[in-house]
Amino acid sequence: MYNCSLIKFRKITSSSETGFGSLTPIEYPDNIPFEIKRVYYIYNVAKDLVRGHHSHKKLHQVLIAVKGSVKISVKHHYGQQEYILNDPSVGLYIGPNVWREMSDFSEDAVLLVLASDVYNADDYIRDYDEFILNNENLYGKKGN
Ligand code: TYD
Repeated sequence: MYNCSLIKFRKITSSSETGFGSLTPIEYPDNIPFEIKRVYYIYNVAKDLVRGHHSHKKLHQVLIAVKGSVKISVKHHYGQQEYILNDPSVGLYIGPNVWREMSDFSEDAVLLVLASDVYNADDYIRDYDEFILNNENLYGKKGN
């Protein structure tokens, strides 16, 4: 989907030793398309709670369920999609102008977010109608 795609990271394991575990490295520019300026993580979210409800004007992000599972619903001018994140070696890249909602957090879920910039409240669009209008201004009215 436009401005939104899954990224498969490396998962380094040892074939010889049981219980050795896995390691996933993430480096710019080889693994993600922006330099990371901020990291945060979301956890202890109630099962029936929905977070997000916003898009960003300029921010790029990669979401990774480093523990448990989370459903991410995204909407863009060109379409909508749902992703289930449940693998610490998979990230969901979300670029600017994509509406996102995070739901169905498993009890143990920890959603790690890598972001291209520091926190800036002015970069958020939290009103859905404004999001639609903004995308129409950027990409044209639907059907045109
Ligand atoms: P918000 O981005 O709305 O969370 P979500 O989209 O997951 O529902 O942020 C929730 C609150 O946390 C809001 O008051 C802003 C604050 N916040 C920061 O101070 N720094 C940050 O890096 C982030 C992401 C949020």
